[in-house]
Amino acid sequence: MSTSISEQSEWARVSKELEAENLKLASYDSTLLDLLGNVMGKRLLDYGCGPGVLASALQRGGADIRAYDISEEMRKLCGDKIGHERVYVGVDAIPQENFEGVICNLVLCIVNEEEVRKISRNITDVLQQEGRAFIGFCNPLIFNVAESRLDLRKQSEHNYEENHRYWKTKKEGGYRIVEEHRPIRWYEQVFTEAGLIVLDKHFTLEYELKGRKIQDFIIFELKKK
Ligand SMILES: C[S@@+](CC[C@H](N)C(=O)[O-])C[C@H]1O[C@@H](n2cnc3c(N)ncnc32)[C@H](O)[C@@H]1O
Repeated sequence: MSTSISEQSEWARVSKELEAENLKLASYDSTLLDLLGNVMGKRLLDYGCGPGVLASALQRGGADIRAYDISEEMRKLCGDKIGHERVYVGVDAIPQENFEGVICNLVLCIVNEEEVRKISRNITDVLQQEGRAFIGFCNPLIFNVAESRLDLRKQSEHNYEENHRYWKTKKEGGYRIVEEHRPIRWYEQVFTEAGLIVLDKHFTLEYELKGRKIQDFIIFELKKK
């Protein structure tokens, strides 16, 4: 029986699978690393860092990286990679107006609406005035694609404009997760209300599978108002 994840507290159960997600790495992480450019000496925060795969890549690139995750086990795995002193144990411990860059990857699409609002405000608070935030997750525009390179989705009755939950199975790792679908416009409004400006929306590389053109992820580039 495969692992199923429907709550944010359950993610630690697939920490090993997350560490071995090469397809996601090649698609999402490489796009984000390109967007971040030269990170040498830059003060960056990975919010919702998981086991720290991206945080350690950024550290290898010379960034002064810090990280936070709600899960104690993920914080430990990330700390093992980047140094435990670089991992904040609680959101209140993250210094305000401190970071040139904040990244938040594949977190907002698995938490409830109130948490999306809270995380967006927290990111605004910890960003420097001229800093950039990159917040990314599964591309809402492909919510009705039954199969991508990365996952298989259970088709729902809902349309694009409706916020709703659906199950997907990750091909890599073989575990099932509940994903929260919200239209791009909904996220833009939440970010604006949290004091952020959407500078750009980036998508991962397009490919074709079973007659559908697919871009797996969206990454919002934001700054403070
Ligand atoms: C799908 S994993 C993504 C991990 C990593 N960012 C990556 O790209 O591989 C989602 C992570 O978000 C964390 N998370 C969930 N809710 C959170 C919250 N409210 N604040 C911070 N982290 C959260 C989970 O513990 C988990 O590590």
